[in-house]
Amino acid sequence: MHTSELKKLLSSMSLEEKIGQLVQLPGNLQQGGLITGPAGNFDLTEEELRLSGSYLSMVGASQLRQLQTEYMARHPHHIPLIFMADVINGYRTAFPIPLAQGCTFRPDLVEEGARVAAKEASAAGLHVTFSPMADMVHDARWGRVMESTGEDAYLNGCMAAAMVRGYQGNLTDRGTIAACLKHFAGYGGAEGGRDYNSVELSCRTLREEYLPAYKAALDAGCAMVMTSFNTLDRIPSTANRWLMRDVLRDEMGFAGVLISDWAAVAELINHGVAEDAAAAAKLAIEAGVDMDMASPCYIKYMKKLVEEGTVSPDLIDQGALRVLELKNLLGLFENPYRFLDEADEEKLILCEEHRLSARRCAEASFVLLKNEQQALPLSSQEKVAVIGPYMNAQTLCGSWAVFAEEKDVYNLQDALLRQQGPENLSFAPGCPMVDPSEQLVGFKCPVAQEQMDLEAALQEAVSLAKAADKVVLALGEHKECTGEAASRGDITLPACQLRLLDEVCKVNENVIVVLFCGRPLDIHALNERAKAILVAWLPGTEGGPALSRTLYGHAAPTGRLSMAFPYAVGQLPLHYTHLKTGRPYNGNPALRFVSRYQDMPNHPLYPFGHGLTYTSFRYSPVQLSNTLLKKGESLTASVIVENTGSRPGTETVQLYIRDQVGSVARPVKELKGFDYITLRPGEEGTVSFTITEEMLRFWNIDMKYTSEPGEFIVFLGPDSQTENAASFTLC
Ligand code: GLC
Repeated sequence: MHTSELKKLLSSMSLEEKIGQLVQLPGNLQQGGLITGPAGNFDLTEEELRLSGSYLSMVGASQLRQLQTEYMARHPHHIPLIFMADVINGYRTAFPIPLAQGCTFRPDLVEEGARVAAKEASAAGLHVTFSPMADMVHDARWGRVMESTGEDAYLNGCMAAAMVRGYQGNLTDRGTIAACLKHFAGYGGAEGGRDYNSVELSCRTLREEYLPAYKAALDAGCAMVMTSFNTLDRIPSTANRWLMRDVLRDEMGFAGVLISDWAAVAELINHGVAEDAAAAAKLAIEAGVDMDMASPCYIKYMKKLVEEGTVSPDLIDQGALRVLELKNLLGLFENPYRFLDEADEEKLILCEEHRLSARRCAEASFVLLKNEQQALPLSSQEKVAVIGPYMNAQTLCGSWAVFAEEKDVYNLQDALLRQQGPENLSFAPGCPMVDPSEQLVGFKCPVAQEQMDLEAALQEAVSLAKAADKVVLALGEHKECTGEAASRGDITLPACQLRLLDEVCKVNENVIVVLFCGRPLDIHALNERAKAILVAWLPGTEGGPALSRTLYGHAAPTGRLSMAFPYAVGQLPLHYTHLKTGRPYNGNPALRFVSRYQDMPNHPLYPFGHGLTYTSFRYSPVQLSNTLLKKGESLTASVIVENTGSRPGTETVQLYIRDQVGSVARPVKELKGFDYITLRPGEEGTVSFTITEEMLRFWNIDMKYTSEPGEFIVFLGPDSQTENAASFTLC
């Protein structure tokens, strides 16, 4: 449809019909819908149900075909429904959680994963996914770090843009869905790492650290944006006119649909900025929120607000037109079923090609934190005891893989037996996933673990460990301990798992921990005991094969931490892009009046960008093509990397830049680029980056986004703590 026809349609619609386009109902109001938030009671009239133009969390080709057909027949103007849901790390073929995808440092793999998800979801009738989540995260206590791609603005921007490209293509291609960027803005900065809590950021920090990744997604063409639950400067985002109209729409140029998060319009009452639902509706529509997700505010009160002159009808027209434009962008007026296709749904979901793509992404997401005495890779001749509650876990998809089914997960034990055969392998759970005393809302402990005889299980594991050459200890946090509403003040492993570690380490010194988790955990206890630690995160449907291939060296780990592992929870929030302070700590314990802890180091246990593999590399000093950089010109920073080990390997070279002096304090380092190189033993290769003046810009003392002349340090190295550096001057 042309815009003129859309405007003609709009002008023929009643006020009630226009408001209906601004409403998204939770799927549970129809049978078969999923709940991903506090289920509300809407008491909708037949008319309100008939006019509401969108459903959330409903998928499935046959059920959506039927719903669309019936709905359009009843709608006065036969305007099609738009179906949206959370396809966060895959649809039915689950990919690694986004935090793990960030660790790949491979936007191409992340884009491929989004494309696979879009093919499956669009065949199931879905039109929009509530992804990418591009929130900056510095606090591992926050359960939703698993849904982000980590602590770095540049990496997050690369990954968010990759996901948009993967989901959307150009939206007319078969197998695409629209993307919805979330949560705008600053949700990851929740105080105390506690979900839904207040966020206190300076405007400069918001712009420097938090907005760039959102902007990268919008520059990639992201079709929608979702508001965040939090306050910024004590203003809830869903009522924040400055954030939504001045920044999002005017500065960042976003012209698409802005949807609230689940019930966030109604929650303006809880925030204490709206007396009642009508006031909440007024605040949200005036802030520019086009769609009210899962709350009765717009559907129940907007008509009266307009009729009594409290809300301008223009605001309703603007919102309704944007929603009609989105439906038109998706081709729903020409074909309300779009790419919904029962045969495709059958053929594409969990097909071998998609499983292979998920396995490749999982292999690239694993991070080898340590590997003393080359404990890994394992050899087929070694007797290996695979112990721990995750040795055969099906819960590998993460809490946001809401459409993936655990029965489809290929677990570690099955993959190892298929790859290695049973001769040199033994298996035992050793303990439950979570301490029996832990009361987790929404958590269902697997029956086998609920009825476990704890002492017998421990003894069985210890006896296997005693008889083995090496132990693979599959430990971790349960998927219900990460994700939304899963913030934790203690991020250590459950006590029952730490006891298992202790008892196993007493009888076998070759312990390799495979860690399944949705956040960087406090692992300094196990770090001292394990010879090797491989972080598997929550690796998705193909986690088992990806791990068995990696453990035995058929694939080598190449992942790099997208978020640091802290020395302890007391260090949080933590990020490598910290400022120098007036009393920087250089690690000398004799220094007292400096910015340091008395009882632990400032630096994390394992820093952003860290990751080992099965070989080693040597870096040459940084070479610069010039030590002067003029505006409009560029210079090249290069390093020669040599594979000094005995196995082929892939190294991810990271480019960091430090602005030595600025009109405001500047971070000690900022990631500005990364690239990988694969080398055979003894081989060397050059990795180069182009540096431009644009890369040096920041929000200066006058809040202007600009660069300032002066000295800059260029770092090229294997992680954010590298000191391999050279300097240049911007003229
Ligand atoms: C949830 C989440 C949001 C999700 C939405 C719909 O509360 O905050 O990320 O997309 O509701 O499920």
